[in-house]
Formats: sequence, structure tokens, C-alpha cells
Amino acid sequence: MPKALPSPQMLSELNPDAIPRHVALIMDGNGRWASERHQPRLFGHKKGVEALKKAINYALKANIPFLSAWAFSTANWKRPKSEVSGLMTILRHTLEKDIDEFHEKGICLRVIGFLNDLDKNLQKIIQNAQERTKNNSALTLIIHFNYDGRKDMVQAVQKLSEKVKSGEILSESITEDMISQNTLMAEFTDPELLIRTSGVVRLSNYMMWQCAFTELVFIEKNWPDFTEEDFHGALLKFQKTARNFGQVST
Ligand code: FPP
Repeated sequence: MPKALPSPQMLSELNPDAIPRHVALIMDGNGRWASERHQPRLFGHKKGVEALKKAINYALKANIPFLSAWAFSTANWKRPKSEVSGLMTILRHTLEKDIDEFHEKGICLRVIGFLNDLDKNLQKIIQNAQERTKNNSALTLIIHFNYDGRKDMVQAVQKLSEKVKSGEILSESITEDMISQNTLMAEFTDPELLIRTSGVVRLSNYMMWQCAFTELVFIEKNWPDFTEEDFHGALLKFQKTARNFGQVST
């Protein structure tokens, strides 16, 4: 993992009282980055892991407690078989080979998504990595894998309607909080900042419910080129923007 970046000078530009608790990353543009270099798409994803490590490094130094990164959506199964299996291998490598480094840095690793659809062996590897790092508290790294925001909301509605059917709750007593508590992200607070690379300006079904009030920062460069400085720039932008949740700013 790169060291000594961001510089203490860079960090002193931040308001320590306005560090977001949870930052989410849409790591977009790996394929385009690879194509521009006449390389297979998987080459871009591999470089993407390095960029993710830079983001992790920055999050640790800036004292961001939760960092989410979207690594595989349910729609990604439709990609060529070689790319799908390559992304599975990248996750396996990250959880088996990089785990020592993560553990040493005090990172608690979580994988969130529809994990039952993954290979049983990969599910076991995920469980082991989570178990090993569960007591770490420097940073919680949430890797969204086989994740789908709308499917998550459908599942939350199904769980709640079961409770209505059994008489446990009344439909008119359903609250926003109850919906949140039935999503895959139930145990985490909503992201305050989301960064998407590659110049694409949309959420693409990522944490639809959780991003209602999230500050969105779009960066033109492709994900493999993402640096600590880019993260820092997004954080400065976030700190300059008043977040008033529809109320009048004081
Ligand atoms: C979107 O770019 C990116 C992905 C679908 C995969 C992201 C994965 C990584 C960055 C690797 C890190 C993963 C783990 C498990 C640690 P794209 O392929 O859609 O790019 P394009 O829009 O240019 O085609």
C-alpha cells in the first residue's frame, strides 16, 4: 500500500470536525482505461485494486471511519465469462492475499451483497476474512459485491410485508427507519459523500435508498487513475458544501 500520502499539509486543509463518517466509491472506467491502452478489461480491474488501496490509505489518514466500494453489481453477471471469473478471482485474492496488510492496518472488512449466489468456496473465504478482521476499528471497508440497490429495497419490502402478514406490525406503522433496518446496509449509517469516476453522472442503482441526502462528486478520470489527491479534492468540495437536508442554512 502506498505510504506517506496524503501529506500532513494536505490533511491540515481539512476541517477535522466535518469528516464524513461514511464515503462510498463507484469505481467506474476500468474497462475504458484498459481499452485506451490496448489491454484486456481485466487489466483495468487489476489496476483498479491498486487505486482502491490508495483510497483506503487516504481514508485511514483522513480518519474516515467507513469506506464503501462497489466492486460487482448483479448486472455484471452479463459480462463475458472471463471478465466475471476474473472479478471473482480479484475478490478472492484481495480476501486471501491482501488480508494480512488490511489486518495490520486495523481494517475491518465487510462484503455486502447477495452473497448466497456466489460460489460456496468464495462465500467461505468472505466469512473467514470478515471473522479475522471483525475486531479492527481503524476503518471499516465495505466491499459491495453482487450488490443491487433496487433488489435490496424489494427484499426489505418483502421482509416487512411478511411481518404485516403475521400481524407483528401494522402497515401504517412502517417507518423510514424500519425500511433502512431491513436493507443489507442496516448496520451502517448512510454515506455522506459518494465519489464516482469516469465522468459518468448517475447512481446506477448503488445504495438508492441510502444515498437520498448524499453529496455526489463526479470525477472525469477513470478509476485506475484515481489518486489520494482526487479523494482529498472531493473531501474539500464536500466540506465546502452546506448540507442542510432541505432546511434553511444557519
Ligand atoms: C466498473 O468499471 C468497475 C467494475 C465493474 C469493477 C470494479 C472492480 C475493481 C475496481 C476491482 C476492485 C475489486 C475488489 C473485489 C477489491 P467498468 O468495467 O464498467 O468500466 P467501463 O465503464 O470503462 O467499461
